[in-house]
Amino acid sequence: MAKAKPKFYVTTPIYYVNDSPHVGSAYTTTAADIVARFYRLLGHDVFFLTGTDEHGQKLENAAKEAGMDPKAFVDKVVETYKHAWAELGITNDHFVRTTDESHVEFCKAIFEKMKEAGDIYLGSYDSLYCVECEKALKESELVDGMCPFHKKKPEHQREENYFFKLTKYKQQLLDFYENNPDFISPAFRKQEILNVLQDLEDLSVSRANLKWGIPIPGDPGQVMYVWIDALSNYISALGYPGEKYKKFWPADVHLIGKDITKFHMVYWPAMLMSAGLPLPRKVFAHGFWTVDGQKMGKALGNVVRPLEMKAKYGLDAFRYYLFSKAQFGQDNDFSERELVNVLNTELADDLGNLVNRVIVLVQKYFDGRVPVPEKPSKDEGEFEPRFKALDQVRRAYADFDFSRALKTLWELLRYMNKCITEAKPWELFKAKQMEALAGVLFALLEGLRIVMIWLQPVMPGTCAQVLDAFGVLAAHRTVAQATWRNENGMARGGSLAAKSLILFTKKEMMTMSDEKLQPVKPEVTFDDFMKVDLRSAKIVSAIPFADSKKLVQLEVDLGVEKRTIVAGIGKQYKPKDLEGRNIIVVANLAPKKLHGVVSQGMLLAVDVDDEPILLQPDKDVKPGNQIR
Ligand code: ME8
Ligand code: MG
Repeated sequence: MAKAKPKFYVTTPIYYVNDSPHVGSAYTTTAADIVARFYRLLGHDVFFLTGTDEHGQKLENAAKEAGMDPKAFVDKVVETYKHAWAELGITNDHFVRTTDESHVEFCKAIFEKMKEAGDIYLGSYDSLYCVECEKALKESELVDGMCPFHKKKPEHQREENYFFKLTKYKQQLLDFYENNPDFISPAFRKQEILNVLQDLEDLSVSRANLKWGIPIPGDPGQVMYVWIDALSNYISALGYPGEKYKKFWPADVHLIGKDITKFHMVYWPAMLMSAGLPLPRKVFAHGFWTVDGQKMGKALGNVVRPLEMKAKYGLDAFRYYLFSKAQFGQDNDFSERELVNVLNTELADDLGNLVNRVIVLVQKYFDGRVPVPEKPSKDEGEFEPRFKALDQVRRAYADFDFSRALKTLWELLRYMNKCITEAKPWELFKAKQMEALAGVLFALLEGLRIVMIWLQPVMPGTCAQVLDAFGVLAAHRTVAQATWRNENGMARGGSLAAKSLILFTKKEMMTMSDEKLQPVKPEVTFDDFMKVDLRSAKIVSAIPFADSKKLVQLEVDLGVEKRTIVAGIGKQYKPKDLEGRNIIVVANLAPKKLHGVVSQGMLLAVDVDDEPILLQPDKDVKPGNQIR
């Protein structure tokens, strides 16, 4: 019987759907993708899970603000996550939503198990709750009466609800950490978790004041605390208690950010102990990204959007930048300038230039045929020992030390660059030393092939381009083939499939994001666009409002009729400068009352840092003409 493949189960946090994907969620998800791809490369049977956290106070509020029913709201936002992960090359095997029926059922089941263990009791809850964190804060944690993380005043919540006897598990947790020293990763996080255990209290696990959640079995007047619901996703997604659960649980690693260690390293294992289920092997908490030295946030307008980065610099450059810079686990500062710099040097020069040079040289001197010397050349002899470094690459990936894996691979690339400079293939050709020339070029091709195999987890698209160009079959790109002169390596007598290959083009720093430009909105069809009736128009009169500096009331000649339009251009334009001016108007916009006046249309203006600059036809045109 064939030996069963080893399994590997990796997860990301499930993200709240009140926000769309940003560099933070993309970071964790891409890290998990690297891990999943790495273990697939080793031949493991991998299950990679991500998903969304859709219940709770925060989501109920967000839906209300959007004027939507919660389910309709989450159904909409979840699409932006699925779309983003597909665009970012994420190879998750499943996408779990906490509104999935199977998830809801498992949450009820685990709650019942905790109850059967005698760990659930009714008590009175009196707490300061930060809705943004979805957690209760202690008085001592507040800074100036506010949540230190979100700078918001917590809500005072008081009600009867259910508690979980968390304190009962204190010693068991301590023993567990002791016996499983790798569970809390990186190890430097251990002290903060021990501090949490120091003043552990029982945990409120239900809410009476909330509707948007999973009903408590036997008490439909209460819903489950969103974290009890959320953490359960890691098992519900496996279809507990079915085959997939049996195969993949316990998780090999939960990847998370450092903001949610308490939930994953204390609450979750305690819940599992209570329910009598096995515990995950490891929780790895990475650091946080700031942006140009500041906390990233909507309020500051400095949120880094991954799809914008992909559009500007390419997916693999973005992925490489995220993981090459600092050690996984440490905080990081995102700088677009630095990304561009890395793209231009480490990617375009060290990698791209090398690959292209080697391909072009093989084309030029060997007509594209892979020159395989009968016996290993001197160069090959010098390459091979250096490639022992790949053991370190394997270890680095396994330790989630992605920057070290990349650094080691880049040392090999730089060595190969140096090798070309020193061997001077063009001189060997001139001197008709074809043996020696074949020796150098084969060593370079073989070295690149092997490095590309190991780089696949981080830069899958780039590596596929190179391995395609080398004519390496898709089935021959696992670490089993990443050995020198592997029989499934550079084909004897085979040819390169490309004449040249430009992997990266050097970029200038684009100032776009300096000015905080919004990414392009989702596309509309031509027919939809044509529904908008844009017309030339002329301002007849402009009257300011006594009590608003910003708004002006305009009488506008639209050719076919006159209109009243209220526009927010009062700060930039004086009424007398507006009268007689040609403008462009959206003529079929639904009327809207602004400042007590019904506005029948809208002017077009360019928005520069919230300052409107009016659009105007290039010539004096009559009102009423259509814009196309
Ligand atoms: O906490 N830098 O969801 P969430 C790095 N639903 N990573 C960041 C980051 C930053 N600036 N900002 C966010 C929740 N992250 C819960 C999780 S799990 C059972 C439930 C990443 O949408 C990081 O992984 O607030 C962090 O842990 C996660 O996003 C929080 O995502
Ligand atoms: Mg959060």
